Amino acid sequence: MALTETQAAPRRLDTPDWWRQAAVYQIYPRSFADANGDGIGDLRGIVSRVDYLDTLGIDAVWLSPFYPSELADGGYDVADYRDVDPRLGTLADFDDMVAALHARGIKIIVDIVPNHSSDRHELFQAALAAPKGSPERDRYIFRDGLGENGELPPADWKSVFGGPAWEPVGDGQWYFHHFAKEQPDFNWDNPDVHEEFVTTLRFWSDRGVDGFRVDVAHGLVKDLPDVLPSAAELDAMDRTDGRHPLWDRDEVHEVYAEWRQVFDEYDPPRIAVAEAWVATPERRAKYATPEGLGQAFNFDLLEADFDAAQFRHIISDNLAQSAATGSSSTWVLSNHDVVRHATRYGLAPLNGRRVKQGTEWILAGGPEDELDREGGLRRARAATLFVLALPGSTYLYQGEELGLHEVADIPAAQRQDPAFFRGADHDKDGLGRDGCRVPLPWTSDGPSFGFGAGIAHLPQPEWLGASSVAVEDGDPASTLSLYRRALALRHELQTGEQLEWIETGRDDVLRFARPNGWQAVANFGTEGYALGAGEQVVVSSAPVAHGVLPGATAAWLVPSAD
Ligand code: NOJ
Ligand code: CA
Repeated sequence: MALTETQAAPRRLDTPDWWRQAAVYQIYPRSFADANGDGIGDLRGIVSRVDYLDTLGIDAVWLSPFYPSELADGGYDVADYRDVDPRLGTLADFDDMVAALHARGIKIIVDIVPNHSSDRHELFQAALAAPKGSPERDRYIFRDGLGENGELPPADWKSVFGGPAWEPVGDGQWYFHHFAKEQPDFNWDNPDVHEEFVTTLRFWSDRGVDGFRVDVAHGLVKDLPDVLPSAAELDAMDRTDGRHPLWDRDEVHEVYAEWRQVFDEYDPPRIAVAEAWVATPERRAKYATPEGLGQAFNFDLLEADFDAAQFRHIISDNLAQSAATGSSSTWVLSNHDVVRHATRYGLAPLNGRRVKQGTEWILAGGPEDELDREGGLRRARAATLFVLALPGSTYLYQGEELGLHEVADIPAAQRQDPAFFRGADHDKDGLGRDGCRVPLPWTSDGPSFGFGAGIAHLPQPEWLGASSVAVEDGDPASTLSLYRRALALRHELQTGEQLEWIETGRDDVLRFARPNGWQAVANFGTEGYALGAGEQVVVSSAPVAHGVLPGATAAWLVPSAD
């Protein structure tokens, strides 16, 4: 195999199976690019950066919600599932964006939020206006309060973001919300709710979207008895048998079987990926069957340290699970809900509690003396390169290709994340997600580092300019150049979905081969690892000299041409 520094044009997969081994780039629309200078990223901003996405070499973009929303939860409180938030653009802008992406062979996945709507959604407004026991109220989860006049909540449950999970509506009834109080949960026993989402899936599919990312896919179906269990009882209940009252119930797969029929009405069939935080990889696999959503996020690497044993275990486990259902695995190191992986890996190892640890660091005000910025980025680059060689899809989060760190020092007055405010008692994890949602730096100066003509909606620290696209663009050692090279090579090298581990004689060095001889090796330790003679390094996350892979470095190898 002869691969030179000259990169072939990226080849994107144009088969119905494109999703199986795609590199999907997550755009958080409000923070990507702002075309009209109001400080909020928008769809025309995305259109203006399509060349950037093309050159980056990704296969698909996934857009976090861009629907009309009061922004109680960064857009995951949807007021209308079939429109664009006027602050972000119009349906015509959406169509232009789809056309611009498709013209470059880039697929588009949109976010669907079926567990809850916004409290501004017309169905919830109708439920509030209608009396107790009405068909309108039945579309959400209402219960009578306890106490003489219903003045006490039906149960002592806490929401995922902290604070109570039941909210009174003033007539003795209360509604249930897993997340913020502005996000009432739908009642999926009601056929109207099914119809609402089938209509929505067709609406976007008809507009040309290629697939859907399904928010809180494990939460939709509930089974609440007349006498509700206490929070402590709920917590103690098994989450692995499909019978927990709130999470990961087996019946949820009936919803996805219904959706599969809609996906299959299209040619090629629309694809879906489940966000399902479930108890075991076996439970996750149920979301990824061909009769269901087809693919499910594997978040295990978010929790893992930069540690060979943890990586090996997670990789082997997930490849086995996805093979068992006929799906392909997914790999995620960063997204809009967690502390960026360059930062997580810059904190001292903590035995597989990375997400929580990053959160604790944010809550402590992001002490600079606890963060090894350079080491964190070095490990992040190595982890990404290693993961990009794995069979399956990789989901990348905007800004990681610039090697961005988390922004820790956002003043409380400028924070937007409801988890920050609701969890003010600090008894929950997942707090303070604004630091990974700070608008991207495109240039090294300007009012918002080229994000737009105005000041960005979240404060951008000074150091962001040094990691801007303009600075990294022409620098062969930059993280952007590393991602571009790796993604272009990935198109050339992509092959069958098998992986064979190669023993390295070292506990801290992992190495595997793909069927065509493409190999990836990662040194998770500090001592150099000698590569074999005749092994050609085609890309590495840090310089490799004299055939020795330094610590905290990954490389891709191909058999030498001669
Ligand atoms: C998961 C999303 O990724 C997160 O951002 C959101 O807050 C919750 N679901 C609720 O929709
Ligand atoms: Ca704007």
